[in-house]
Amino acid sequence: MIVSDDDKEVIAFRCTSIYKIEKDPYKLGEISDPGSRRIKAFNHYGDQRAKVLEHFNVTEALHMVALGVNTKHRQRGIAIEMMQAALTMYQYLGVDPLCFKGQASSNYSKKVYAKTGFQQFYDMPYEDYIVDGEQVFENTGAHKSLASLGQVLKGKTMDDA
Ligand SMILES: CC(C)(COP(=O)(O)OP(=O)(O)OC[C@H]1O[C@@H](n2cnc3c(N)ncnc32)[C@H](O)[C@@H]1OP(=O)(O)O)[C@@H](O)C(=O)NCCC(=O)NCCS
Repeated sequence: MIVSDDDKEVIAFRCTSIYKIEKDPYKLGEISDPGSRRIKAFNHYGDQRAKVLEHFNVTEALHMVALGVNTKHRQRGIAIEMMQAALTMYQYLGVDPLCFKGQASSNYSKKVYAKTGFQQFYDMPYEDYIVDGEQVFENTGAHKSLASLGQVLKGKTMDDA
């Protein structure tokens, strides 16, 4: 997280979690808020189609779960710099293979991932996500799809074979 020295306001944040291939990686049954559960179910749906970890022949990866920049500080390269700093830092942690996955829900975060070396494996249009006959996400503005992406920084992967 980046916090302003002057007024202690949050400028930007970014989080990573460990993602493992399993039946219910997002523990959907434990999420009580319906909106959050709906989003996580969509993330899971995208993962199942993108199969990023399977492409890299691993069962675990670091998952870039959240990225946000305060509206006052956007379009100055902060998101790209934070993402790059994280990728650099993880290379010193001795994790091998070092694989990352991420999902970009906006046109701008897609650029952040593309500019920090991520490869896109799947792009899921919001309008195509139908549950029980209903379109789940409407009015997404200029942002039309969720991209699933990944990259390997260390270790032998299936793509090398
Ligand atoms: C997505 C987000 C993190 C980008 O943060 P940022 O610090 O403004 O991004 P950057 O300055 O590093 O810019 C990344 C790219 O997106 C472009 N971009 C960012 N905001 C833009 C905007 N409003 N309009 C047009 N392009 C934009 C930048 O120009 C840059 O592309 P370029 O290098 O080709 O010029 C920020 O918009 C945000 O917090 N959005 C709300 C939360 C969100 O969507 N998070 C991502 C979830 S996956």
